[in-house]
Amino acid sequence: MLMLLVVTLLQTPEGKGGWQPNPDLVRTLSEKQPHVIYDEAKVPNYTLPDPLICLDGTKVTSPEIWWKKRRPEILELFRTYMYGKVPIDKSENLKFEIIDCDRNALEGNATRKQVRIYFTGETNGHSMDLLIYLPNAAPKPVPVFLLLNFNGNHAICDDPGIKIKPIWDRKAKKLIIPPEESRGSDAKAFPVRRILSRGYGIATAHYCDIAPDFPDSFKYGVFQAFDHLFGEKRPQDAWGAISAWAWGLSRAMDYIETDKEIDSKRVAVLGHSRLGKTALWAGAQDERFAIVISNNSGCGGAALSRRRYGETVALINKAFPHWFCDNFKRYNDKEDELPFDQHMLIALIAPRPVYIASADEDLWADPRGEFLAAKAADPVYKLLKTDGLPTEDMPPLDTPVMGRIGYHIRSGRHALTEYDWERYMDFADLHYKLGQK
Ligand code: GCU
Repeated sequence: MLMLLVVTLLQTPEGKGGWQPNPDLVRTLSEKQPHVIYDEAKVPNYTLPDPLICLDGTKVTSPEIWWKKRRPEILELFRTYMYGKVPIDKSENLKFEIIDCDRNALEGNATRKQVRIYFTGETNGHSMDLLIYLPNAAPKPVPVFLLLNFNGNHAICDDPGIKIKPIWDRKAKKLIIPPEESRGSDAKAFPVRRILSRGYGIATAHYCDIAPDFPDSFKYGVFQAFDHLFGEKRPQDAWGAISAWAWGLSRAMDYIETDKEIDSKRVAVLGHSRLGKTALWAGAQDERFAIVISNNSGCGGAALSRRRYGETVALINKAFPHWFCDNFKRYNDKEDELPFDQHMLIALIAPRPVYIASADEDLWADPRGEFLAAKAADPVYKLLKTDGLPTEDMPPLDTPVMGRIGYHIRSGRHALTEYDWERYMDFADLHYKLGQK
């Protein structure tokens, strides 16, 4: 037993302990995709940019220097070289229309609201439908989780009261009316009743209501509505789809601030996968989000680009050329030249609580790279006088670590599961100091 412990300790140098990927999975994936790194031994050496050293060499030795100089500088770098700049901060003409309010939804336990947000103020223009469930039993105003969904609001729950709106079909690149049978088809990723029973509300919108998700999406959605503000030509640093979706989350927050039943100071923004990248970018920019949660966000989200493990900058730019701004393509196979890495995206959220979650079988998203990015954001959290991420090594499977930075790696595949939700609610309970379980 003692021998075993000694051997285990010897095998876990700093940063490489705890979770290890399943060697069979590493082998299978490496054989299937020989151009992709799945073997930790093949990760190149790299040096991360120091979040606490400014471009001009100034050391960030106080929170003041962080807030006044380094944080704005990092934000600008991400805007210019990765996610892209928005043509309009907040549409002056934003208009909200409550299109539904049922105080007796979900067996009488919830209030359901549907709010149509018109981005240009024109009621025949672009709009996003925000679906909200609030627990009737909880004291108001209530904290909520805000997230975009992949397949339409009607897909998150079997509730027949959810309006079915035409949605962009990613493959056919056209608007389709989803079939009635697709109600509740994503319910596993949205345990609405459980969320309500723990005293939280949930607010969600379909991400393609903001901008569709295919390579020439720049002709549609908010791009169509606002890109003219850039002038004749779309600049190299014009917003990509992730920036547009993040902008949409902030517009949902604009509505939330007007709703007296929701606690706008306790809104956790959350997202899975490409929408996890989006949640991080939204949370980094918009300090109204009290908690930020990234579920399996991987490359372009929480995972360090310089590791080139699983999906890389070149691979993501090739498969999804519309997600980031054009400038980001300069860094294909040149990750070391990036003036930032994803730990600095997480650091932009400091000192607000942030939770990064990985999945055991999701090697494409580089779980270790996600953990290391969270850990490398820790010095900024410490500078801002919080505990950061209270572990040196990756924890074992299904063993969450929760400081001001939270992290877990869950058994199973790339997905948003009930396990993940329970941990996010534990994390919110902890930081909001709520008692209920
Ligand atoms: C692809 C993509 C990932 C992304 C994922 C998703 O796998 O390569 O970067 O996170 O899709 O959004 O589902």
